[in-house]
Amino acid sequence: MFFDTHCHLEDPQLAADRPTVLQQAQSVGVERILAVALDSASSQILCTQKYSNGDPVRIYPTAGIHPNHAAKEPEGAWALVENLARGGKAVALGETGLDRHWHDTPFAQQQAFFIRHLTLARELDLPVVIHCREATEDMIVLLRRFWEETGPVRGVMHSFSGEESFAQTCLELGLLIGLSGVLTFKNAQPLRDLAKHLPRDRVVLETDAPYLAPVPKRGKRNEPAFVSFTGMTLAELWGQSIEETARQTTQNACKLFCPKEMG
Ligand code: NI
Repeated sequence: MFFDTHCHLEDPQLAADRPTVLQQAQSVGVERILAVALDSASSQILCTQKYSNGDPVRIYPTAGIHPNHAAKEPEGAWALVENLARGGKAVALGETGLDRHWHDTPFAQQQAFFIRHLTLARELDLPVVIHCREATEDMIVLLRRFWEETGPVRGVMHSFSGEESFAQTCLELGLLIGLSGVLTFKNAQPLRDLAKHLPRDRVVLETDAPYLAPVPKRGKRNEPAFVSFTGMTLAELWGQSIEETARQTTQNACKLFCPKEMG
């Protein structure tokens, strides 16, 4: 019933006990996981792994280079990501985006990588998984310009924690809003107020595991099973059952990442 639309399954913290992680996920009703790449190496692992329908949870890989990883990537990294994307295994590109919190990659280089992802996504008709940290203004300018000059791209603003006006812009641009464990944090009342009124067909759930574990697991290693805690918080906000919230957000995610499965 749940679709965890953002999990770093190849992070050593999760990869070490992957069978348990997947079983835990399945036991709370997580049926699908978007396994999000951070660099060319994780893109390659994710896109060349064998997935079978016999796995307890369906795993959908992405290919991409996180803005904070771009600077330390080897030469040829982007070509590799592009090849993997063209190979047809990746269901989305990313995570990509802009980050002014960390300074691992010069901002101009982040922008260049982000535009590469958007351009390729547009060409291959793939959605993008977008990361935005302390770079809202730059993000809006870049997205609006790209949309005007090149046309829209489908995607999700992942682990959204911005302001109402930013959410509105994302929705206007046709993006979905990804809600992570941040929704459950004690200090996140403004985000809960905002989430309450988001259009229900434009929201997806995610963990960003192994990071951002929701309450009551905050501070621990996050894992896909914990998407249920964020789902419960959203269900309360929306005044509906957890089942209905899971159904709606999974349908939204499938429409973006695996539309063929919807018939
Ligand atoms: Ni992430």
